[in-house]
Amino acid sequence: MILKDKVCVVTGAAQGIGNAIARNMLEEGAVVYGCDLGEGSMETLVSENGRFHALYFDVTDAQAAKAAMMQVKKEQGRIDVLVNNAGVVFNKKIGMIVREETELMFRVNVIAVIEMTQLVSRIMARMGGGAIVNIASVTAVLGSAGQAAYSATKGAVIAFTKSAAKELAPQGVRVNAVAPGIIHTERFEELYEASGDKIDTRIGRIALGRLGTPDDVARACSFLASDNASYISGQILGVDGCASI
Ligand SMILES: NC(=O)c1ccc[n+]([C@@H]2O[C@H](COP(=O)([O-])OP(=O)(O)OC[C@H]3O[C@@H](n4cnc5c(N)ncnc54)[C@H](O)[C@@H]3O)[C@@H](O)[C@H]2O)c1
Repeated sequence: MILKDKVCVVTGAAQGIGNAIARNMLEEGAVVYGCDLGEGSMETLVSENGRFHALYFDVTDAQAAKAAMMQVKKEQGRIDVLVNNAGVVFNKKIGMIVREETELMFRVNVIAVIEMTQLVSRIMARMGGGAIVNIASVTAVLGSAGQAAYSATKGAVIAFTKSAAKELAPQGVRVNAVAPGIIHTERFEELYEASGDKIDTRIGRIALGRLGTPDDVARACSFLASDNASYISGQILGVDGCASI
């Protein structure tokens, strides 16, 4: 129970990696506030676990985000952990991507990460500290043809993570990122198989010989969020099976 009684906020918790992070944090003893779009999309978790609370808002809506974080502070008195997981991806070549898609990726993947960090780090600083985990991507570290604009957003997440870690360290707030490789989520078939990409070729470039699971990423997030990682900040932890994509 490495997160026993910690108050954790996980964005994009309705499905995929965020859902696994929320579930893993619950298993590790945390009180978890999941954030997502779409009223009702987290009700299964609400009914399964009394320590899970659902907050429905768009992370790019600064007013709504502020109101939601104030609600957590009011109900729990503090926030110990923030996982900036909500993200959007358009797998498109440089010649095909349109501005609306690029802008949406930057709004959700970068600007919302910065603004959620601003909001929550203030609360954490007043309570004596906390831990923030941002979800980056292996694409930002290694590059990925067909994902240039998306990779740029995740590169920004990595740069932000390193600088925020330095800036917030005096207030006791640690900031790290996890950089997942190819993770077998619900959306996986849609993104890779529908693109005509040969998944066997991709698995062939993963030294550990398999795709990642949402749980692989979730366990890394819980570790970085926990006091076991109390001397770790500003790091980018690859969870990619030793990939070269
Ligand atoms: N799946 C992978 O292989 C992979 C690899 C590397 C990094 N990532 C990153 O991991 C994170 C999760 O990816 P996933 O594959 O689980 O994605 P997903 O699309 O399955 O889930 C993302 C969740 O975020 C929510 N979301 C999107 N925009 C939002 C907004 N504006 N406000 C609130 N919630 C919003 C969605 O509703 C969804 O529930 C993303 O940041 C993604 O870039 C994924």
